Amino acid sequence: MKMTKVTVVGAGNVGATVGNVLAHKDVVNEVVLLDLKGDFAKGKALDSWQQAPIDYYSTKLTGTDKYKDTKGSDVVVITAGIPRKPGMSRDDLIGINAKIVTDVTKSIMKYSKNPIIIVVSNPLDVMTHAAWKASGLDSSRVFGMAGILDTARYRAFLATELGVSPKDLQAVLMGGHGDTMVPLPRYTTVAGIPVTELIEKDKLKAIVERTKKGGGELVKLMGTSAWYAPGAAAAQMVESIVRNENRIYPCCVRLTGQYGLKNTFLGVPVQLGNKGISKVLELNLNKSEMKLLHKSADHVKNVMKVFNKMKLS
Ligand code: NAI
Ligand code: 2OP
Repeated sequence: MKMTKVTVVGAGNVGATVGNVLAHKDVVNEVVLLDLKGDFAKGKALDSWQQAPIDYYSTKLTGTDKYKDTKGSDVVVITAGIPRKPGMSRDDLIGINAKIVTDVTKSIMKYSKNPIIIVVSNPLDVMTHAAWKASGLDSSRVFGMAGILDTARYRAFLATELGVSPKDLQAVLMGGHGDTMVPLPRYTTVAGIPVTELIEKDKLKAIVERTKKGGGELVKLMGTSAWYAPGAAAAQMVESIVRNENRIYPCCVRLTGQYGLKNTFLGVPVQLGNKGISKVLELNLNKSEMKLLHKSADHVKNVMKVFNKMKLS
């Protein structure tokens, strides 16, 4: 039987959480945490490994600062880079993170032939483009995590408001990972019941607005960005890939004409299997939803202009 190896680059708040949640799922054989901070990743991995006898998992975790230890990775999650501080937008991180993500991807590609790469570093949509460019991989194998997190925030806010279990909330959210993201009430249900039948219009509108600024709300509270839900979201993507589940999740992918958008990375619902993106789903958006999606794409395109000026690859 083929062994599955996952590398997580960046063993900080999000990266260490991805490794830990993934280990708890016990769906891969090995998780390698890599960080440039000396023995930092070794410590994080050892701590998670020592949790194994308590929480009963066999996924082996190791830490390193050397790319040779990532050799033969099936899936790589890139969380390396700086997070935002209060007052910063995700886009403000591009100056530092674009180079980090480009360098990390090139180093990964030296030791793994055809990995699937999941990008987490911000600004997400543009960093996913950066990793795709630097990897030379087919775009079905390079995509970003944001939609699962943003949808989870939307679902959690709704669960609180309605007094229901978050388990019963299903929703679709599209667009870039920023304040222009597009939660879609028309595609939101509570145990199959359209959410619009259960909540007043203005309350739903307020939740949509809170969702768009959900990342910033946490930065204000903690002085840095979130990690539990982001880490769990990336681990959920890895699970669908390694188990070839073909689950449907909103992910940041390269669009090639879908929704009237080309050559741009943006969040849309896709199916994730062991070859990466097996299908991009095209929903029948109405005029106003489509307008919001294109507005979000325009925002990503503006950040792309900054990236292109950096001439990194
Ligand atoms: P953190 O500061 O806790 O961890 C980042 C880690 O990356 C640090 O340990 C650092 O040493 C490491 N690092 C930096 N440059 C590196 C390099 N060249 N090679 C290897 N490791 C390197 O930050 P946190 O909170 O884990 O966030 C990481 C990134 O993820 C940030 O850019 C943040 O904005 C983003 N993020 C994205 C989310 C999303 O939904 N897509 C959600 C949450 C965070
Ligand atoms: C978040 O949404 C900052 O992108 C990060 O929490």
